[in-house]
Amino acid sequence: MDKTIIARDPIEMEEIGIEIGETLTDGTLVSLVGPLGSGKTTLTKGIAKGLLITEVVTSPSYLLARTYAGRLVLHHIDAYRIGSLAEFAEVGLDDYLPPEAGVSVIEWPERIDGLVERSDVHVRIELLEEGARRVHVTRR
Ligand SMILES: Nc1ncnc2c1ncn2[C@@H]1O[C@H](COP(=O)(O)OP(=O)(O)O)[C@@H](O)[C@H]1O
Ligand SMILES: [Mg+2]
Repeated sequence: MDKTIIARDPIEMEEIGIEIGETLTDGTLVSLVGPLGSGKTTLTKGIAKGLLITEVVTSPSYLLARTYAGRLVLHHIDAYRIGSLAEFAEVGLDDYLPPEAGVSVIEWPERIDGLVERSDVHVRIELLEEGARRVHVTRR
C-alpha cells in the first residue's frame, strides 16, 4: 500500500503517526527517512499515541534507543550516530531490527546498509514551503 499525505503543521504530522500506530502489529519495523527537522520524531510521537503509549516520546539521539510500553512495546531508535549494523550489534540494538516483540521505529535507517529494504513500513518525508511536509507511506 502506497500513500502520500500533506502535513501542514506538526499536529497533522502527529495525526499521520497516530493512524500508522493504530494499525501496527507485533514484530513490525518502521523506517523514517527525511532531513534533519523534517518531523521524524514528531511522527513517532503520533505512532506512540496510536499504540496507546501515554509517556512523552522524546528524541532518542544520545541514547540511540528508548523503549516505551503500550498496546505493543515501542522501540524508538536513532541511527544518526551509528554507521553500520555491526555497530548496532555491539550495543545490542540489532535485536530490534526487526523486533522479536513489539514495534521498532528507526530514524536515519539509510545509514545502515539494507535496513530500509528490511522495513515493513517505510515513511519518507519531504520538506515543502512554509512548514508543510509531504509524507510518503509505503507498507510492504
Ligand atoms: N508540517 C510539519 N510536520 C512536522 N514538523 C513540523 C512541521 N512544520 C514544522 N515542524 C517543526 O519541525 C520540527 C521537526 O522536528 P523533529 O520531529 O524533531 O524532526 P526530525 O526528527 O526529523 O529531526 C519541529 O520543531 C516541528 O515543530
Ligand atoms: Mg528526530
